[in-house]
Amino acid sequence: MPVMEEVPFITTPDNVTVSMLELAGVNAKDFVLDLGSGDGRIVITAARRFGARGLGVEIVPELVERSQRNAQAAGVTDRAEFREQDLFKTDLTAASVITMYLLPAVNLQLRPALLRLKPGTRLVSHDWDMGEWTPDRTLTVEAPTKNIGREKLSQLHLWVVPAPAAGLWCGDAGLQWHLRQQFQMVQGQAGPTADLKALLGHMDATTLHLWAPGAQARAEWQTSPQGPTLRVVGASGAWGPWQGQTLRKASGDRCTA
Ligand SMILES: C[S@@+](CC[C@H](N)C(=O)[O-])C[C@H]1O[C@@H](n2cnc3c(N)ncnc32)[C@H](O)[C@@H]1O
Repeated sequence: MPVMEEVPFITTPDNVTVSMLELAGVNAKDFVLDLGSGDGRIVITAARRFGARGLGVEIVPELVERSQRNAQAAGVTDRAEFREQDLFKTDLTAASVITMYLLPAVNLQLRPALLRLKPGTRLVSHDWDMGEWTPDRTLTVEAPTKNIGREKLSQLHLWVVPAPAAGLWCGDAGLQWHLRQQFQMVQGQAGPTADLKALLGHMDATTLHLWAPGAQARAEWQTSPQGPTLRVVGASGAWGPWQGQTLRKASGDRCTA
């Protein structure tokens, strides 16, 4: 792993913590993972105020101990756990929400692993973005008690992990979608085999929205033991007849009958 700038301990102000959790829509069904959890405030607030479960991983032992004391004082030790652990060696897959207040280079280093998470996993970063992976939402909140920066403002970014849709998808009656994907943005061609039309799309967690002039479709991405499928759950205009079709991912570069 390349050597990188160390992430210092700087706390997220309380009002910003609440805004981060609200931006992610945290609720009692969530498991919140804070990468570099400092004094534990994000996980403790997620448990106390939103009823979620959570884990904070932190590399400084004294901060882990402080977090555990803070969790005890807040009465949430049954739902808020803290471990002395390197965030780069942490299993991210159990989380439904991941929070970060790190550094731009660290976010970028985490990005490939974050993109492989279960589609729909929500990611919130305080202040730093993830380069070309543009956030699904960005919020600026006032942060009068922030202990760095002259402008007492915080930027909060939300990403929802998109399902992977790149490849050739095959339906009935020659329906084909050739899709390319960059993060949540999708482009490609669609049509019965001989009549491919350029299309644009957006993957919103597991819902793919596709557009072409005079046509729109919405498809739900799912996995099954046979591989991923896209089921057309809404189609209008020239694509109306596709409604209800299920497209399967081709294993090669052709759709077989
Ligand atoms: C900017 S603070 C954020 C603390 C807390 N998440 C918050 O928002 O208030 C970043 C924290 O990450 C911790 N940290 C830095 N590198 C880490 C690593 N590789 N693994 C785990 N924690 C790390 C630092 O010790 C520091 O407490």
